[in-house]
Amino acid sequence: MFPKRILLQLATLVALFSATEADLTIYTDSALAAGWEDWSWSSVINYASTDEFAGTSGSSISVNSSAYAALSVKLEGTFPGYAGLRFDIAGAQPDLSIFIQSTGDNDQSPTVDLSTLSNTIVDGTFSSLLINFNDLPGTGAQLSSNDSWDRITFQAGGNGAFYHIDNIVLVEEIVIPPLFLSAEPILDHIVAVTTQGAVDLSTISVSLNGNAVKIVNTTTYVPVDTPSQTITYLELGSNFDQGNFSVTAGNTTFSAVLPAVQYGSVVQQVSKPINPHIYGVNFPTSASYIQHLGVTISRWGGNAVTAYNFQGDFTNAGNDWYFENRAADDGNADAWLGWVSGAGSDTLLTVPALDWVAKDTTSFSYPATIYPDQAGFDPYNSDAGNGQFPNGSWVPPLPQSNVYKSWNTSLAKQWLSNLANKPLMVAIDNEIEIASNTHQDMHPDPIGYDEELARVISFATAAKEALPDVLVVAPSTCSWWYYWTSEIGYTDNAAHYNIDFLPWFLAQMKAQENSTGTRLIDYLDLHYYFQADTSANDDAAKALRLRMTRSLWDTSYVDESWVGTSAPQNHQWNPTAISLIPRFQILIDQNYPGMKLSISEWSSTDDTDITGGLVTVDVLGLFGQYGVDSSTYWATPDEMGPIGLAYWLYRGYGTFFASATAQVNLATPLPDTQGVYAGTQDGKLSLVIVNKNPDVPISFYLANVPTDTYFVRHFGGQAGVAKWQASNTSRLWKIA
Ligand SMILES: *[C@@H]1O[C@H](CO)[C@@H](O)[C@H](O)[C@H]1NC(C)=O
Ligand SMILES: *[C@@H]1O[C@H](CO)[C@@H](O)[C@H](O)[C@H]1NC(C)=O
Ligand SMILES: *[C@@H]1O[C@H](CO)[C@@H](O)[C@H](O)[C@H]1NC(C)=O
Ligand SMILES: *[C@@H]1O[C@H](CO)[C@@H](O)[C@H](O)[C@H]1NC(C)=O
Ligand SMILES: *[C@@H]1O[C@H](CO)[C@@H](O)[C@H](O)[C@H]1NC(C)=O
Ligand SMILES: *[C@@H]1O[C@H](CO)[C@@H](O)[C@H](O)[C@H]1NC(C)=O
Ligand SMILES: *[C@@H]1O[C@H](CO)[C@@H](O)[C@H](O)[C@H]1NC(C)=O
Ligand SMILES: *[C@@H]1O[C@H](CO)[C@@H](O)[C@H](O)[C@H]1NC(C)=O
Ligand SMILES: *[C@@H]1O[C@H](CO)[C@@H](O)[C@H](O)[C@H]1NC(C)=O
Repeated sequence: MFPKRILLQLATLVALFSATEADLTIYTDSALAAGWEDWSWSSVINYASTDEFAGTSGSSISVNSSAYAALSVKLEGTFPGYAGLRFDIAGAQPDLSIFIQSTGDNDQSPTVDLSTLSNTIVDGTFSSLLINFNDLPGTGAQLSSNDSWDRITFQAGGNGAFYHIDNIVLVEEIVIPPLFLSAEPILDHIVAVTTQGAVDLSTISVSLNGNAVKIVNTTTYVPVDTPSQTITYLELGSNFDQGNFSVTAGNTTFSAVLPAVQYGSVVQQVSKPINPHIYGVNFPTSASYIQHLGVTISRWGGNAVTAYNFQGDFTNAGNDWYFENRAADDGNADAWLGWVSGAGSDTLLTVPALDWVAKDTTSFSYPATIYPDQAGFDPYNSDAGNGQFPNGSWVPPLPQSNVYKSWNTSLAKQWLSNLANKPLMVAIDNEIEIASNTHQDMHPDPIGYDEELARVISFATAAKEALPDVLVVAPSTCSWWYYWTSEIGYTDNAAHYNIDFLPWFLAQMKAQENSTGTRLIDYLDLHYYFQADTSANDDAAKALRLRMTRSLWDTSYVDESWVGTSAPQNHQWNPTAISLIPRFQILIDQNYPGMKLSISEWSSTDDTDITGGLVTVDVLGLFGQYGVDSSTYWATPDEMGPIGLAYWLYRGYGTFFASATAQVNLATPLPDTQGVYAGTQDGKLSLVIVNKNPDVPISFYLANVPTDTYFVRHFGGQAGVAKWQASNTSRLWKIA
């Protein structure tokens, strides 16, 4: 499915920007080309702007888009089979995402952030940019060539965007310059070389400490999901050793210093089961997504589901978007349960547990007509306010029945009993401890210990009555702060013998089982977000992101955030080291033995950077090793992005990591920069090794790894977010 006529040939970069007869022009000067319609929204657009233009004469399109608004153009007809989209753009690095749609069937391409094309866009000078449909910037994914594409959208981010754009053209041909992109040792006798275009592989040579190393086999293939880069495995005649390693290909040399080997051992006999439910996500996009990534459990959750009304599939965005009702993003819950389980994933359904659910798709809680003096209004609906006065205090809610219908346990029971598709698990709502913020209109009063317990007990009782086999997860608490106290504050702790919230909650649920003889919840459910701020995304933030996985397990890791510096926030032991999994396993043993541990929201903190992918590989290894029972990533990782690759590494295309752990003993564990996980399934040993510092190779000698033939998968490395995925192509090598 290549777009037609991608030419892989020797050529210079100049050829990238030469037009051919068969290109399809969208705009050059004064107006959209014939056949193109303006489908833009909430933007001031001048198609004949003469203050700035590319080239020596003519005009450009000036665009001023408000928050999330867009320049959007649609062809009367379709444009299948083009090789790419070229345009000239000027502006102060406008925050734009670009995507292509097929309006006929609602298909949409992966989103291309303008910043992945260029970070040096300035006002006054046009940058000439090209999106290669065979190698979408950011993911390397391919735009399917047989879809009925007809619309192109340049959408602004939350702060709007102002820019000039010119010479927008769909190009028929892109000539790929041949390049060697990286060469990395991945096994003791295997080098992976990443290339683009028609490189001459016969020029490759390998040397170690100045001596040539014989290449005994060379195999090249095109990864099925990311065909723009090819991968060639060089099998060497001898094993690597420590020293200066280099691969020369054409006129490019890649070198690395191979470090001294680190010693360790694997003990298969020291083993415990890995719960397959640790490999979950929230809201998978499709059946093929579930199958490609091997998703084991899928959650219907998040802030909006608190207002989900099964009678009409309505919801309300709450404080995430101006307290507006809308159609549920994922449609009908029962139908969702059906297709998700049909695709092979177990399901976790959230049951609303406040007193209201959305009554339609159009109402909203804070109209400007009643409260004109609000701090903000929806840019798409100037009548819908954000529920806050300019001084930041909440607007008093209007009667909830303006926007909502009442909800209670009988309705929940009716809904659950009548589901055609039964969920494996249900969650009792989502982060309701902060409902007085997220759903201020529904529940303006802060929720305390007693109310939260009462709601969990009543809705869990309804769920177990409706679905006797269902597993209940609760209370899905949002973060470290609320694990220990409530929105009411420390007076609420004081009113409960100063017992921190979750230990108190567990003991109360245990007492409830003791007195009724019925277990109401099966999993203690947490949401866990790393508390350190890594949004700067510079080298220091990336390294911190990679270290933070230690907060999941390491009792000696003082959190590199406010948690580590502003204790005490609770009455916990060792309160500056989160050590999340062992801490909650101890609290469960003390307060409600036998309870399982679920983490139904967590995040790497960056879904688009390769470090987010490495964090995810490390976390999935840790969840297995430390015995988490269920987890679902927040939110839906892009199948082709770094987080999707981490899931693929463990589960992709039917090849699974392990069903039980094996112990790994390292002479010098370096958890800030390395993760090593082992496991077994059906008598086969698997290892996952994360090198969190790709600039520095690492090398292990692991005793008790049997000499055998192994299947190898890898991603990351110097070629960027390379998708070195073999789909279902086995890469088997002998490890001696
Ligand atoms: C874009 O539009 C906004 C809202 O109308 C206006 O405040 C702003 O000045 C405009 N920006 C430019 C550069 O024209
Ligand atoms: C495009 O081709 C793929 C693979 O051949 C196929 O699965 C898909 O249904 C096709 N899509 C359309 C819109 O024809
Ligand atoms: C080279 O590797 C390929 C793919 O693994 C394998 O099929 C082939 O037999 C190998 N050739 C030699 C000479 O070892
Ligand atoms: C590797 O190269 C460095 C720098 O050129 C040199 O100092 C070192 O001795 C070399 N190591 C070996 C094992 O040859
Ligand atoms: C390297 O080789 C490529 C392809 O042959 C050529 O286009 C390029 O100019 C060469 N670069 C240098 C620095 O010699
Ligand atoms: C904020 O403004 C509102 C509306 O003017 C007012 O009623 C309220 O008392 C103010 N709150 C504070 C804390 O000043
Ligand atoms: C729940 O609401 C329904 C509809 O308003 C009502 O018929 C029912 O009695 C209520 N159930 C409870 C337990 O309040
Ligand atoms: C529940 O019953 C068990 C067994 O009798 C007892 O050990 C435990 O202390 C009780 N827990 C609570 C919270 O009542
Ligand atoms: C992958 O290979 C296995 C074993 O050869 C086969 O059973 C399975 O259907 C293949 N999966 C895909 C997605 O091609």
